[in-house]
Amino acid sequence: MAASAEALGQRVAALVLAGLRPSPAGAPAKPLGLATGRTMEPVYAALVEQLSGLASQDRQQRLAGWSSFNLDEYVGLGPDDPESFAASMARSLGGPLALEPEQLRLPDGLARHPEQEARRYGQAIAAAGGLGLQLLGLGDNGHVGFNEPPCGPGAPTRCLGLDPATRLQNAGFFAAGLAGVPQRAITVGLVEILAAETVVLVVSGEAKAEILRRSLEEPPQPQLPASWLQGHPRLRVMVDEAAASRLGCLRV
Ligand code: GLP
Repeated sequence: MAASAEALGQRVAALVLAGLRPSPAGAPAKPLGLATGRTMEPVYAALVEQLSGLASQDRQQRLAGWSSFNLDEYVGLGPDDPESFAASMARSLGGPLALEPEQLRLPDGLARHPEQEARRYGQAIAAAGGLGLQLLGLGDNGHVGFNEPPCGPGAPTRCLGLDPATRLQNAGFFAAGLAGVPQRAITVGLVEILAAETVVLVVSGEAKAEILRRSLEEPPQPQLPASWLQGHPRLRVMVDEAAASRLGCLRV
């Protein structure tokens, strides 16, 4: 458990960095699954910092092998829109690490047919052999990616309407506030998330303590999409002290 969101960011970044090292047999690692949001900001800042501390050849080697799929994107927003997840990723990782667009992939929020784009994105993940390390934040309503409640573990990558709680949670990112938050999004499904080799749920702050407790301690259920992660064989929950404050296993 980390003392603060920043310390947590350093730890999660170190885990991602270790995964970027080519395996001894030279087999390419499976793509990373990446999230956006406030929780990931210190993670990506720490990752850029840790990569810049490596010897140039080591850094180049790790970056050359970079391949990632982001979890989600708003329907109607594209990379030129500062409020899109594509723009957020370009600011936090794509630009600082000089990654090519084909290395740092997101659903196309401007696709004419979002349902079709969601299917294409799901197929692209499958064609890449599925996801390796999947980073997840936790929504205030228990969502992961944009898998809004109610959501079962069989939900595929798809286009869906956003929950009012989610639009409220993310309103602060939009100049126009709640009115500016799109109504729909494309998200990687729970099917693809649960099939990832390793899932890392990253949660910081007191405001998430109760939804984290419910997601980990209540029986898996559609009203808590994150609760399905309990069944994942390689789930790591990485938290700061504030987010962990209500977890029963830590009570004395
Ligand atoms: C957002 C995103 C998720 C993110 C989560 C937590 O709506 N769709 O990918 O991980 O909700 O966001 P935050 O870290 O800002 O609390």
